[in-house]
Amino acid sequence: MNILLLGSGGREHAFAWKIAQSPKLNKLFIAPGNPGTAEVGTNLAIAADNFPALKVAVLENAIDLVLVGPEDPLVKGIVDFFAADEAIKHIPVVGPDKFGAQLEGSKDFSKQFMFRHNIPTAGYLSVTSENIEAGIEFLKTLEAPYVLKADGLAAGKGVLILNDLNETISELKSMLDGKFGAASKTVVIEEFLSGIECSVFVITDGKNYKILPEAKDYKRIGEGDKGLNTGGMGAVSPVPFANDAFMKKVEDRIIRPTVEGLYSEGVIYKGFIFFGLIKVNGEPYTIEYNARMGDPETEVVMLRLKSDFVDLLEGVAAGNLNEKSVEFDERSAVTVMLVSGGYPEEYEKGKEISGLDKVQNSIVFHAGTASKDGKIVTNGGRVIAVSSYGKSKEEALALSFKNAQLIDYEKKYFRSDIGFDL
Ligand code: AMP
Ligand code: GLY
Repeated sequence: MNILLLGSGGREHAFAWKIAQSPKLNKLFIAPGNPGTAEVGTNLAIAADNFPALKVAVLENAIDLVLVGPEDPLVKGIVDFFAADEAIKHIPVVGPDKFGAQLEGSKDFSKQFMFRHNIPTAGYLSVTSENIEAGIEFLKTLEAPYVLKADGLAAGKGVLILNDLNETISELKSMLDGKFGAASKTVVIEEFLSGIECSVFVITDGKNYKILPEAKDYKRIGEGDKGLNTGGMGAVSPVPFANDAFMKKVEDRIIRPTVEGLYSEGVIYKGFIFFGLIKVNGEPYTIEYNARMGDPETEVVMLRLKSDFVDLLEGVAAGNLNEKSVEFDERSAVTVMLVSGGYPEEYEKGKEISGLDKVQNSIVFHAGTASKDGKIVTNGGRVIAVSSYGKSKEEALALSFKNAQLIDYEKKYFRSDIGFDL
């Protein structure tokens, strides 16, 4: 089959790497892709949210299935766009429709959903400028630290965790005043949960689901989990604390009620659900949902997925995922993200990357790179995900760290403590 993959980051290179291994694949196209995806498929210079141009491309290239990497096209309704167009409605798009994508696109929507279905999560109150007084009263009933979340998508910056009540109240006001634009016209105030986090993923056809390998993502820029939040500085799978007993609770209390809840509410959700979980005194709670796979988690999940990924995507499209099997690679997989100095704040682009040819025994996924005059240059905050297998996570990490040293560009930075806390 011919597949079109949307997106341009490390997640998409990892997807492309895995898809390219499938005997079911004829041709793989990536829009817009990056120099890494160009090694395993054909990049098309079309933005992932340019729906009319994507329509032309799927028809021209006889695409049989579209896989959406990032959340943006989903939240903007790419699934609905395809479904409403006679010429392309027969082409399955793996990802939820605009309604289902609200699981990620609106924190208020997802909290209401979790409460409707008794899915464990932090207590909360949603606040707008209409009921700010109730919000302040609610904050006074909580203990520090205080959690404020912009309801809508805010490029990963919309969550504030603050220790001082007065500062929290003033931040609440400034969020409602548009600190994050329309995204923070509604703010979700949450009870703070203290524990250890991990990411769990399922692929679903709307009725049946399969659990994919879990992963732990390292979100902070600094070693020892200090400093600003990033998109993710590295990931490890498996996660030792996500043992069978814990995963059974996750499936019984969170995964199944979520998939069944969507189905019972008439949501046709065909795609990935990313459960951002926290383990508190041994019990799982849902911090957030995403309507897509994680990045950099996908860079380890694809390594640990032994089954044919294209076969699973076909199962999603056909609604017979229950007939498919998912096998995990028993080895550990890790990824270490090389970033641009300054990230997640200001950073420069266009730095020539050297040493990619020296890498041995790791898989290099391009995250933010571009080709310029025959050279590979940096083109984003997160630049390269160096991914490795090992009999243990230590063995895998040793390979990623070694190769992370060999790849170089001006102001390269990476965290050398990925996985050390596990
Ligand atoms: P989110 O975008 O909802 O995943 O939030 C970003 C990060 O903030 C999470 O990965 C957690 O580390 C932290 N966080 C969010 N909500 C809470 C909460 N209720 N309690 C503790 N930490 C939280
Ligand atoms: N790594 C976290 C995310 O993809 O949202």
